[in-house]
Amino acid sequence: MNQAAPAPKENMGQPVPRIDARLKVTGQAGYSADLAAGNVAYAALATSTIAKGAIQALHLDRARAVPGVLDIVSIGDMDQIEKPKFGNTGASSIGPLHDKTVFHDGQIIALTIAESFEAAEEAAMLIEADYAQENPSASFDSQGTKIEPAAGKSPMYKEDAKVGDFDSAYASAEVKIDQKYSTPTQHHNPIELFSTTAWWQGDQLTVHEPSQNVTGWKIELARQLKIDPANVRIISPYVGGAFGSKGPMTARTAIVAVAARRVGRPVRCVVSRMQAFGTQTYRAETRHRIRIGAGKDGHITAFAHEGWEVTSRPDPYVVGGASATARMYNYGSVLTHVSLVRADRNTPGYMRSPPETPYVYALENAMDEMAVALGMDPIEFRRINEPQKEPIGGKPFSSRSLLKCYEQAARAFGWSRREARVGSMRDGDWLVGMGCATAIYPTAVAPCAARIRLTADGQVRVQCGSHEIGTGVRTVAGQMAAERLGVDLDKVSVEMGDSALPPAPVSGGSISTASVCSAVLKACDAVRQKLFAAAVGEGGPLAGSGNAKLDMAGEKIVADDGKSAALSDLFKTMQIGAIEEYAEFAPRGSSPEALKKLYAGESEFHGGDQDQDSVKYAFGAEFVEVRVNSHTREVRVPRLVGAFAAGRIMNTRTARSQLMGGMIWGIGQALHEATEIDQRHARYVNRDLQDYLVPVNADIKEVEVILVPEIDHEVNPAGVKGLGELGNVGTAAAVASAVYHATGKRIRDLPIRIEDLVT
Ligand code: MOS
Repeated sequence: MNQAAPAPKENMGQPVPRIDARLKVTGQAGYSADLAAGNVAYAALATSTIAKGAIQALHLDRARAVPGVLDIVSIGDMDQIEKPKFGNTGASSIGPLHDKTVFHDGQIIALTIAESFEAAEEAAMLIEADYAQENPSASFDSQGTKIEPAAGKSPMYKEDAKVGDFDSAYASAEVKIDQKYSTPTQHHNPIELFSTTAWWQGDQLTVHEPSQNVTGWKIELARQLKIDPANVRIISPYVGGAFGSKGPMTARTAIVAVAARRVGRPVRCVVSRMQAFGTQTYRAETRHRIRIGAGKDGHITAFAHEGWEVTSRPDPYVVGGASATARMYNYGSVLTHVSLVRADRNTPGYMRSPPETPYVYALENAMDEMAVALGMDPIEFRRINEPQKEPIGGKPFSSRSLLKCYEQAARAFGWSRREARVGSMRDGDWLVGMGCATAIYPTAVAPCAARIRLTADGQVRVQCGSHEIGTGVRTVAGQMAAERLGVDLDKVSVEMGDSALPPAPVSGGSISTASVCSAVLKACDAVRQKLFAAAVGEGGPLAGSGNAKLDMAGEKIVADDGKSAALSDLFKTMQIGAIEEYAEFAPRGSSPEALKKLYAGESEFHGGDQDQDSVKYAFGAEFVEVRVNSHTREVRVPRLVGAFAAGRIMNTRTARSQLMGGMIWGIGQALHEATEIDQRHARYVNRDLQDYLVPVNADIKEVEVILVPEIDHEVNPAGVKGLGELGNVGTAAAVASAVYHATGKRIRDLPIRIEDLVT
């Protein structure tokens, strides 16, 4: 198998609009719950009102009496199926209807099915439970939590990185800091609500549900239902916001499938935003202690990052972002340790750049504090500590353009106008602050399959069971095919989001563009090889050009000896109307089982800090200007500039919007977002978009994205690093450092609020 990368013609792809843009703005790209499913019955969840204990009795009579109620699925009704699994394809091992134990507030206790949505909701609200209640542990400071080391609890976090003798290096450092940071609980609030629609046709089960992993879910759902995966089809053509929330399958999917079997017709369950807080995954709160020691010249000699993360009682969900912070700078000695704190909560899960976002927030804050302690410009401080090799394993970086990002972002931002002295910049009533921070995200790629069909009239169909979660992957997959097959993009159609298509990995970890484009590239190259052979072969239109270098352009095979052959003519000589190729891409270093795992719904990630030859990351530098009102202390962010280097950029328009969206979310993390928890009841309080704050248009002014050219052939054949999660890392720390610069107040606990700044 030849995996040599074709040298990309350009490193920046055309900013073509999304091929589904029109469908999206005209409302034709329906969410899963909008898709027609025949004679649908509606389902609603009833959820627990306690966080810990056991259900002693359920009272369903009043619910059953609601006109239009068809059935209720409840405790005991799932006994014939397997419990959910925790892992990459399953959100939690809690099987809410399997036993009577209550693990968290808002746990599913029943599903009502009715002729109308309203009847189902009313019935669900009339369900009452008798509980044997225990006192729950809500979070870090609650009694009864269990603290344990995170390393080894999950394949996501194998070990705490360590190098050298931190203790003695730190003890003898000339300048040092020792600080604590924290990030709050944050909940997914995608515009598209969570939903499942399921129906059976004989043995065949079809599910419409927004998903980042249709193949994984097909396998996992079949396992739970004890049926052949070939009889399960998951369809998810467009997803209205995923960010990790639609990666692992929750317990609801199988419950709705069982309900559909019982009532013998399609059942649709749209989860209310309020109930999503307890039935979906979320970003759990984290705490950090960071110690940095350096010489007066600014060289770091000692770095320690300790992290604490909340998870549920049964599942060891680990973020473990210390593996990234440990590899960020040239530290000398490194000590990291991550602990899990088990509380009576639903199991947390992925949320945009899950490991890096909280951990790099802490690191970059600490770096800014250290620069202040050293009396050094924070960019200069990072430049001095730029590593030549990754500090833990000593491996090279496949590419690392961090300093270029800093240079370009600093110039565009006007960093030279910054007066270093705290509180020295003012504009009328507003205190002005400027800050910056590093963004980092591991570059990974996973096995992926794709099918390409090219017809004589130059139409291309790309099929790949990946997912359009809003990133534009459908478009960039089309661009890759258009480029390799020499046709215009408007002749390419791309099918995704269906487990009946060639399998793709989970659309998480910023791997989709790299994985999908590598598979599409391989399938296109198989098409090219066949066409080239026929073109120069006996009787072919380019017979005699056997030694020429061939390419495809303008719906022709073009030879560098000046000859060319139209596809239509070539197909005629080949006596075919279309050519179809199926390709399976496995990254370099894949295990022998990698492709088998792909079909089994498991995504084998390669890259980040896991490869033998090098470590692979994308980098960025983010600059923020804040204005803090000197009277009210309200914080505004008028300007945000980020420069990012992420290998080949397939499409500058979709890349820019991913990075922009990530940074805007970062402002939300810095200033708005937090789930409030009732500590006595371990219950989420602000479970709606009125009280759960996210940035709105009025919060966001100028956002500038700079794409720094970078060529990296090592990461994958497509040369793509991926950037869906990169922009989200670093923003909050940049805001915190700008707030410090404006006010002299170092806020270490997110979000930064007015009350933190009132003296
Ligand atoms: Mo992303 S949090 O890896 O879907």
